[in-house]
Amino acid sequence: MGFAVADAARERGWEVDLISGPVTLEVKSGVRQTFVETADEMLAACLDIFASCDFMIMAAAVCDHKPALVAKSKLKKGEMSTILELEQTPDILTELGRRKASGQNLVGFAAETNDCLSNGERKLREKNLDWIVVNDVSLPECGFASDFNEVTLLGRNGEIVPIDLSPKLEVARILLERIDS
Ligand code: C5P
Repeated sequence: MGFAVADAARERGWEVDLISGPVTLEVKSGVRQTFVETADEMLAACLDIFASCDFMIMAAAVCDHKPALVAKSKLKKGEMSTILELEQTPDILTELGRRKASGQNLVGFAAETNDCLSNGERKLREKNLDWIVVNDVSLPECGFASDFNEVTLLGRNGEIVPIDLSPKLEVARILLERIDS
């Protein structure tokens, strides 16, 4: 959805920065792209631009954990534990929610498989968001690895805006129209 949102934002005439992992998807010309590989790099890239953003829309499915130890050179079979120790990555959206200034709009996504609206509502509050896009990824044709999506937009003032199954670009257009009105 991030690339569809970037395209729809360019259509509206917004100045757009897109921070993403190393993907092969293409965006409309005029979108400034920054590629990152880790959650720490994405946090740094987001913090670099956040103060100058009117809208920050976080659609990335950031990995929640990373290996606790990274070896400098190849490990031999016998040197490796069969249990991989993990630690948590930073929650970028929560960090941005802490830093949000008045007038800035922070939008998150919640990919859920159960209790979608109540989970989305909780994340909206916990992460100090203005809007959250709740995505039931258990539905066919929705979310990951699909050109279509069907979502519900929840607002901090109790707004509930269902967006029917449509191509992702169309979902992104409706989403931006709603949050920028
Ligand atoms: O809590 P959960 O990971 O489901 O929240 C999803 C939202 O949080 C998405 O907007 C995602 O981009 C963001 N996120 C983040 N940093 C993480 C994990 C998720 O900003 N480490």
